[in-house]
Amino acid sequence: MTEQPAGTARVTIDPDFTLGTVDPRVYGTFVEHMGRCVYTGIYEPDHDTADEHGFRGDVAELVRELGTPLVRYPGGNFVSGYRWEDGIGPAAERPRRLDLAWRSIESNQVGTDEFLGWTRRQGLEPMMAVNLGTRGIDAARALVEYCNIPGGTAWSDLRVKHGVRDPHGVKLWCLGNEMDGPWQTGHKTATEYGRLAATAGKAMRQVDPTIELVACGSSNARMPTFGEWERQVLHETYDEVDYLSLHAYYEETEGDRASFLASGAQMDAYISDIVATADHVRAVRRSSKRMMLSFDEWNVWYQSRFPGERALPLEEQPRLIEDTYSVTDAAVVGSLLMTLLRHADRVPVACLAQLVNVIGPIRSEPGGSSWRQTTFHPFALTARHARGSVLRTEVSGPVVETPRYGPVQALDTAATLDEETGELTVLAVNRDQEQHLGLRAALRGLAAPYRVVEHLLIADDDPDAVNTQAEPERVTPRPVPQTAVSAEGELEAVLPPVSWSLIRLTPQR
Ligand code: AHR
Repeated sequence: MTEQPAGTARVTIDPDFTLGTVDPRVYGTFVEHMGRCVYTGIYEPDHDTADEHGFRGDVAELVRELGTPLVRYPGGNFVSGYRWEDGIGPAAERPRRLDLAWRSIESNQVGTDEFLGWTRRQGLEPMMAVNLGTRGIDAARALVEYCNIPGGTAWSDLRVKHGVRDPHGVKLWCLGNEMDGPWQTGHKTATEYGRLAATAGKAMRQVDPTIELVACGSSNARMPTFGEWERQVLHETYDEVDYLSLHAYYEETEGDRASFLASGAQMDAYISDIVATADHVRAVRRSSKRMMLSFDEWNVWYQSRFPGERALPLEEQPRLIEDTYSVTDAAVVGSLLMTLLRHADRVPVACLAQLVNVIGPIRSEPGGSSWRQTTFHPFALTARHARGSVLRTEVSGPVVETPRYGPVQALDTAATLDEETGELTVLAVNRDQEQHLGLRAALRGLAAPYRVVEHLLIADDDPDAVNTQAEPERVTPRPVPQTAVSAEGELEAVLPPVSWSLIRLTPQR
């Protein structure tokens, strides 16, 4: 029997009111040489399922199911001390290096060619980052030459000599990582970084004019230089780059779950602030170019549990930040993804950080099994079904009081319409921790009456329920057969407390 909701949130869905078009790259992810993301994550030559290149077949299968089309690599903080030349050529001759970012030993058994070979076989687009911490223009342009020039030059011929005849054709390049952060190797002021990013980017584009470039924004909105960093960096780089990056991690602190469930409100304001800053620089420069945003690190991350890199023992492939995610975390990840979709006009690229083990939606054990975390499900289902145009969804209904963001709507929602298939997808999170919430969506302006194909729900009597190696299917999406379109043409659903939903509708033909 369906629980009676304490209140009902109302939304109007109309295909004439669009916010933007879903760029599939908004469903990007991130592989860093950190902890066990690469080694015993995507790559483990001794694993039973490993392919001839040493990459795990079971993890590859889950990556396919996750539906991510784009993967950022190789860092992250790692990239700011990385010599990419260490990771090419005969594997036995590669140096073992001390990685300062995570105080780890890097064996360099996976490098540029291995990673880009994996993305090609997986049908993924790579997004590469260059080191603007300890290195600069020369190493960056050499890497583009190694990756993208067919042959006939020293770096491209070296790639061919290493057995990779065809160029990798990497289109998307990050100019460093979080260069505003004092923890970053080679941390710089905004002007120092902006000048370096502009000159390195120019040289990289001289090698391959077809590439797209991402300049570093702030590491997060709490940085003391936030806003001013973006303004100065864009002042230096506006003509050279295509995107400015944003990073944000969220966690529940001091038992304040209400604010945690409303993390999307912070992400929303953060994006709006950066759009305003970018448009200010555009106006000052009298430029007709509209700067796009790359939200290339976002997730739930319990940073308060991380001891800090200096406290780490010097190990190879250590277990770092392997957060186990709950139903509540899944609702927050689903809600953050909705926020990104509602900014589709300015945020075409985003990366869930990271892909495997390191705050990943996928977990794997060395020599053992792999499984889906709770957060896997909202990500995979949204990536599969939320396509086409993002529709405006103004909510009116019950509110939840939050210590950090004040009153927020209990319902967080986004809707997409795939014009090719006619499929309408409604995403919904009930942020209320106690009450069931009714959802009533008026479907207007659609060419035909719609019917519900399925309503998939992530919810649990225990909002702290998790998936583990022993119980990998504890939290999985389950169907809600009662959800339907009424005779009056309204979608009607009931959303349990702390839940995430995806409702698919199709025209009745
Ligand atoms: O994703 C983990 C780390 O978080 C990345 O290396 C860094 O860019 C960010 O601070």
